Formats: sequence, structure tokens, C-alpha cells
Amino acid sequence: MTETATTKIPTHIAIIMDGNGRWAQRCGLPRLRGHEEGARSVRAVVKACRDAGVKYLTLYAFSVENWVRPKVEIAGLMRLLRRFLRSRERELRDNKVRLRVMGRVEDFPAEVREELARVIKATESRDSGHLILALSYGGRAEIARAAREIARRVQAGEIAPAQVDENMVARHLYLPDVPDPDLLIRTGGEMRISNFLLWQVSYTELYVTPVLWPDFREKELHEAIAEYGRRQRRFGGIDPARGTESR
Ligand code: IPE
Ligand code: IPE
Ligand code: MG
Repeated sequence: MTETATTKIPTHIAIIMDGNGRWAQRCGLPRLRGHEEGARSVRAVVKACRDAGVKYLTLYAFSVENWVRPKVEIAGLMRLLRRFLRSRERELRDNKVRLRVMGRVEDFPAEVREELARVIKATESRDSGHLILALSYGGRAEIARAAREIARRVQAGEIAPAQVDENMVARHLYLPDVPDPDLLIRTGGEMRISNFLLWQVSYTELYVTPVLWPDFREKELHEAIAEYGRRQRRFGGIDPARGTESR
């Protein structure tokens, strides 16, 4: 049995897939080759999560800040995204995985939006697992959008200001039905959040690995899940074992 078979499995894993450029540079290849190899890791990790029983997987594929990158790199990423959608649609459907997106999808070129809409539609009745792509995503943009919608509803007289609490804000985020991530993995070693899921990660366990995303596959995912299994989540409370001692 693998270690993950005996350990706690996170319901929701979110991943900042970083390090494609450095991987390519290390191999003396153009950055886009790093993204291509990263797409292979996406396939491997989606499958490994499904096999491990992870119900929600959110992948940070393109941030709202990534639009400042060179045009050729952006075009290459769009091509890869379309290729991923076309080549994986059947597998997602067969495995009852529902594709969902969060972010400013309206920023994407029409061909990408159409491809996304098609696969989202084709998988919408699936519910074994949810694969969520964060596309043109920014955590601050998401919260600002929620605030805007709440303000509009207050102005329309639908809700009173006193009703605006944490649950109300959470209900106006992109995917209100999705539980907060239990585990956030960042590959490539940077110790930062880079504007990812700012609201949702308030009590998420963080796992940063120096492994670059193109090298992150099933084995590395199992290591992250095993580490999660060793964490003690307290949510502001106290260690239950010590709690009785000090009472
Ligand atoms: C992450 O890899 C992929 C995207 C942001 C789309 P990077 O392209 O950021 O790789 P590094 O950080 O330059 O190595
Ligand atoms: C975060 O990686 C965004 C994605 C993985 C899509 P970046 O490479 O854009 O993050 P920074 O710029 O190093 O913070
Ligand atoms: Mg990066």
C-alpha cells in the first residue's frame, strides 16, 4: 500500500504550478517547452488526484498578472490550453470529472472561450471530481467583484448592509459551492501566494516544494498528501491532546 492509502486525503487541493520557465532554462530549451512539459504534469496530477480520491483540484494556470508576459509566450500558453481541452475532454467525461473555471475568462480569445464552454457543458453533469482551472485569475479581483455585486444588491434594496457578513462575501465569489482548499501546493520554491485564492486560503495548509512543475508528478503529489496527513489543523483552537492536560 502506498502511504497515501493510509493517510488523510484532502478534499480540495489547490496548486500554484510554477517553475516551467526555469525548467526549460535548466535544459537549455525555450520557455514554451517548459510549459509543454508542464501540461504533461497537469495530466499526471489530475489522474493521480482522481485515483487518490481528491474531490476538488484547482490549478492556477494563468494569473491576471501573467498578461504582461511576451505575446509569443501568451499565444503558446493559449495553444496549449486548447490542446489540453481537446485531448482531455473524453478522459474527463469517462472519469466523471466536471471541468470548471474561475477568473476573468472574458479576457481570453474567442477560440479558447468556445473550447472551454464546450468542455464545461460536456462535463457539467459529472460529479466524481471537479477540475477547476484558474484562468486570468486574481484573488483581489475576485474579492472586488464580490464587493461590487453585494453593493449592487444593497443599492437595489435586496439586502441590508447589516446582512453583509463572511458567508455573504463567500457566496459572491466565483465558485461559492466549492469548499476552501485543505492543501495548497506551490512548486518552484517561491514562498508567496501570488494573488491566488486570497479569501479561500485563510486556514489552508501550505506546502512549498523546490521541485519545478514539469518535474512534479504522481510521486511528488503523494509526498505532498503524506505531509498534509502529518499536519495538525487547529483553526485557532488548541491541540486536542494538550487541551485535556491544561484544563
Ligand atoms: C508557471 O511557470 C506557469 C505560468 C505562470 C503560466 P512560469 O512560467 O512562471 O515559470 P518560471 O517561474 O519562470 O520558472
Ligand atoms: C503564479 O506564478 C501564477 C501561475 C502559476 C499561473 P508566477 O510565476 O506568475 O508568479 P510570480 O510572478 O513568481 O509571483
Ligand atoms: Mg513563475
